[in-house]
Amino acid sequence: MKLWGGRFEKDTAEEVKKFSSSIASDSRLAQVDIQSSIAHAEMLGKQKIISQDDAQKIVQGLRQIESELAKGLWNFDPSAEDIHGEIERRLVEKIGEAGKRVHTARSRNDQIATDTRLYLNEKVEFIKAELKNLQSELLAQARINTETLIPGMTHFQHAQPISVAQHLLAYFWMFERDHERLRDSQKRISSMPLGSAALAGTGFQIDRLTTATKLNFKKVSENSLDAVSDRDFVIEFLSAAAISMMHLSRFCEEIIIWSSPEFSFIELGDEVTTGSSIMPQKKNPDVAELIRGRVGRVYGALMGSLTMMKSLPLSYNRDMQEDKFHLFEGIDTWSSCLSLMHLMLTKISWKKDKMLSALKADFSNATDLADDLVQKGMSFRQAHEVVGLLVQKCLNLNKGLEDLSLSELKAAHPLFDALSLSKLPHEAVLKARTSEGGTSPEAVKSQLLKAEKALESQSGPA
Ligand code: ARG
Repeated sequence: MKLWGGRFEKDTAEEVKKFSSSIASDSRLAQVDIQSSIAHAEMLGKQKIISQDDAQKIVQGLRQIESELAKGLWNFDPSAEDIHGEIERRLVEKIGEAGKRVHTARSRNDQIATDTRLYLNEKVEFIKAELKNLQSELLAQARINTETLIPGMTHFQHAQPISVAQHLLAYFWMFERDHERLRDSQKRISSMPLGSAALAGTGFQIDRLTTATKLNFKKVSENSLDAVSDRDFVIEFLSAAAISMMHLSRFCEEIIIWSSPEFSFIELGDEVTTGSSIMPQKKNPDVAELIRGRVGRVYGALMGSLTMMKSLPLSYNRDMQEDKFHLFEGIDTWSSCLSLMHLMLTKISWKKDKMLSALKADFSNATDLADDLVQKGMSFRQAHEVVGLLVQKCLNLNKGLEDLSLSELKAAHPLFDALSLSKLPHEAVLKARTSEGGTSPEAVKSQLLKAEKALESQSGPA
């Protein structure tokens, strides 16, 4: 149904209709559009802006449309201008004249802003659940790997040994911050634009609070102009999505590297890998690569929406119809990547022996040897020098620090003793990192408690 036309003498050109139609994307909003129209119609009836009888007819009609939709009994006209017009057309088709009153004291401008917020809030809850699922799996694997050694890297060079638990928990906290960002953004999503009408509000005696309560909004927007033209909440969601996708991409990169034959720290299950059409030996980490690749879509959506909003004069402009493409792209990509990441994680097997052998003679115990001298009174700078020379010597002898005998150690510096030697095995190096947040099994166990608490206290909308 065309929602305008009275002042036009000629019909819109077919190309323009096609070009400007948004039904292909905003049909996703059908359900929330019906919900918001029901709340609006009930409020109009309560305020006696339309008759109770008409309000009831509208609500019943909309409920019928909702159930037709759920049962797949109604297909939208793909040439319709947008979902709002399409639902109104169906309503009038069903209930006649009363249906023409649903748009009283409302504009598509406040309607679309309201629908998008309702839709996004639902999706945010869904994505929070996906994040939680992934975090639970990270926790489960961390719990059983507090003593599993893996090289800890800086500059992608062996730095100090850490536990697999410590590495997994690093991601746990990144996803926890992603969760916090989402939860915080809900405070701003949950502000209802409905009642702002086209841009300036309405002269009808509407009751916005009633509508907001029915729709579970936390508050009503303060300024009608801002309400119809604000898309910050879309950009904010996409920023959170972009950051989280960046986190996923780092994890994926590591999975790709770890599963390469040169590393072989992990093996990915057959369920989450693919083969090659030409090379029979191949087992490729495509899921990790695809998640890494899809970051581009979400960054694109963020940049697209920022650019779309840049310099737009107040208030509503049709440019803003484009927000849905970006938003839906962000929602779909982020949530599917989170769920696939979870699946992939459950199919990882950790190759403990490979990780241990990667640590052999890697000098990631050098800091501990220097710390040993410091504990015996030497300045750290001097200790660094002594151990550096010893590393040089070991490199020439083709052995690791842990392979040195007590006499070789003593030859390097008289302060070295049997205690120094006992600090060199990588297990001992791990156990020594007892500071809060450190990698020792003991410190990781208290970190696990914090992580469990954080996960338990995650909750619904802020
Ligand atoms: N399809 C439009 C959008 O998504 C709905 C609002 C249209 N308003 C208007 N005055 N043309 O932004």
